[in-house]
Amino acid sequence: MAKTKLAFVCGECGADYPRWTGQCSACGQWNTLKEIRLSPAAGREPAAVIGYAGSQSQIHKLSDVAVEETPRWSTGMAEFDRVLGGGMVPDSVVLIGGAPGAGKSTLLIQALARMAETGCRVLYVSGEESLQQIALRAQRLKLPRENIQMITETSVSRVCQVLDELDPDIAVIDSIQVMFSERSESAPGSVAQVRESAAELTRYAKTRRVAMFLVGHVTKDQSLAGPMTLSHIVDTQVILSATDDARFRILRADKNRFGSIGELGFFAMDSQGLKEVKNPSAMFLNRAEKPASGSVVTVLWEGTRPLLVEIQALVTDCQYGNPRRLAVGFEQNRLALILAVLTRHGGINTAQEEIYANVVGGIKITETSSDLAIAISIASSLKNTVVPFDTLYFGELGLNGEVRPVANGQARLADAAKHGFKTAIVPKANAPKTAIPGMILHPVSHLTEALALLSEG
Ligand code: TYD
Ligand code: MG
Repeated sequence: MAKTKLAFVCGECGADYPRWTGQCSACGQWNTLKEIRLSPAAGREPAAVIGYAGSQSQIHKLSDVAVEETPRWSTGMAEFDRVLGGGMVPDSVVLIGGAPGAGKSTLLIQALARMAETGCRVLYVSGEESLQQIALRAQRLKLPRENIQMITETSVSRVCQVLDELDPDIAVIDSIQVMFSERSESAPGSVAQVRESAAELTRYAKTRRVAMFLVGHVTKDQSLAGPMTLSHIVDTQVILSATDDARFRILRADKNRFGSIGELGFFAMDSQGLKEVKNPSAMFLNRAEKPASGSVVTVLWEGTRPLLVEIQALVTDCQYGNPRRLAVGFEQNRLALILAVLTRHGGINTAQEEIYANVVGGIKITETSSDLAIAISIASSLKNTVVPFDTLYFGELGLNGEVRPVANGQARLADAAKHGFKTAIVPKANAPKTAIPGMILHPVSHLTEALALLSEG
């Protein structure tokens, strides 16, 4: 008889070990390793069954593979389609993560209703909410309910049976955390179970050509059922998260085999469910009544479009001990670098100051185009000079204090002009050749020039 194999899996991050240890060396947590028994069959199946892609392992020439452009399904929401890379790819698997209450179920039932309207066969598998709860939500959101098929089920093999019977184009699994597979002997909800269920469903999706949305709850350390356990299984991983303003939600792709990952989708949650926000810049520029020192607006480039955001800095004297430096919404190291450039090349010494810098609205800046705006907001707070409401800064700072150009300068300026900005301090190389109506441009090549403009007011 085949021997049952043992494995030890960390309940926090999903790393597995051949024997028990007190601390997980992958995530550093203590006492989180649980024993799981692998069924004798697991791990000994032919590769064709194990592979996520689900295709038979025969050798082909790349040029002989038939390439068919399958049209994508639109979710009916441009913001959702944008994050998916232009709609849902047939027989792809998308993992939607987010904290409980983020609006994952709401987003998916809205998308399913729209897709069903266009003739797509859809199935909603709920493992968490009862059919009544989902029906009530769909009714409240005034969604067409005729063509959405539903089951409440948590067994993966039963879900696959139902999929066999109904043969839908798109299925939603809400959520992957409550699914269990008979092939894994560990408890439902454990990382090993979640991983096995996701792998089995993905395999099914690839072989039977069903597109799937898997819902996954984000754990307290912002990982989806443990870092890296699911993202390599699925094609696309998107995260729905709340912003500082509780009404708004941001959808972003962490991984996308069928599109870029820089794209953000913006939604507002109201009593009618999730609404698309067509003009996200307006959503992040809800500013105070009067201009205040330390507040500067910059324009980011998110995926394929510009986004205006406000940066705030607060500089205060340090009363005792080491002065604190805190960056929220961008990297701490970036703040240290900008402070060093300000000291060395801008003559602004902040060695004895506490510095707090924040990107308003809960957005995370990942590009360098906001360097100049961050530097100016710190200088503005320190000198107590106000940057006018209709003034905008962008540009990357070099270590010698030079202001470097950034990509898509023209489009950034055009968006700012559209939102009523009248003055822009930009890198010299980004200054447009033709004037932008209603906008005064100050091209600068060094930090000192930008600081001089700030002092002039
Ligand atoms: P839900 O989609 O159930 O979240 P998730 O599936 O990610 O856990 O959304 C729940 C939240 O959304 C809840 O706090 C109530 C709120 N909500 C609204 O404000 N308006 C609505 O129309 C709906 C359906 C939900
Ligand atoms: Mg839900």
